[in-house]
Amino acid sequence: MSDPFRPLKNAFARYTTGITVVSCLDAERKAIGITVNSFNSVSLEPALVSWCLDDHTSVAKAFLQADHYAVSILAADQEEMSNRFATPGQHAFKEGEGEVFQTGAPLLKGRIAGFDCRLADRLKVGDHTILIGEIVHYDSFDAEPLVYCGRNYIKGPKISDGA
Ligand SMILES: Cc1cc2nc3c(=O)[nH]c(=O)nc-3n(C[C@H](O)[C@H](O)[C@H](O)COP(=O)(O)O)c2cc1C
Repeated sequence: MSDPFRPLKNAFARYTTGITVVSCLDAERKAIGITVNSFNSVSLEPALVSWCLDDHTSVAKAFLQADHYAVSILAADQEEMSNRFATPGQHAFKEGEGEVFQTGAPLLKGRIAGFDCRLADRLKVGDHTILIGEIVHYDSFDAEPLVYCGRNYIKGPKISDGA
């Protein structure tokens, strides 16, 4: 059956983004993640970020119940992780690929930036829920990002801190 949302998705695919894996602990305290490109910075004071969670995804319940989550911005060499965390049933962290800061939410090693967040607000909109996170801790590294463009991955230019 053809996808009735294909034309709209095709238009959305014109928007180039980075790739993140958003992660939390599920009800069994296991580290899980989902590939997300709806991540955005929202505010500096307080420091807030947002992302949109598809209410139909298998991990929606875990993210709706979690008080904390983390965002790992993927590096150019983490395409395999992006594909894996976007695959049905493939949401568990593998042994050794995660680490933890203050909130207990797991982050992926090898990221180019990470945000450890406390859930600040939630807004149900259409078939998604916008999750607003207050940044408790963050880091960033000089590295090349994974870029998502027209459903293809490309390697972005090296990002360093400016003046
Ligand atoms: C590049 C890319 C970006 C995605 N962005 C989002 C997003 O912002 N929010 C979301 O809920 N799902 C997003 N997804 C889809 C989820 O990753 C995917 O639906 C989920 O991992 C499928 O697992 P499930 O079948 O176990 O629910 C994205 C997928 C890809 C490949």
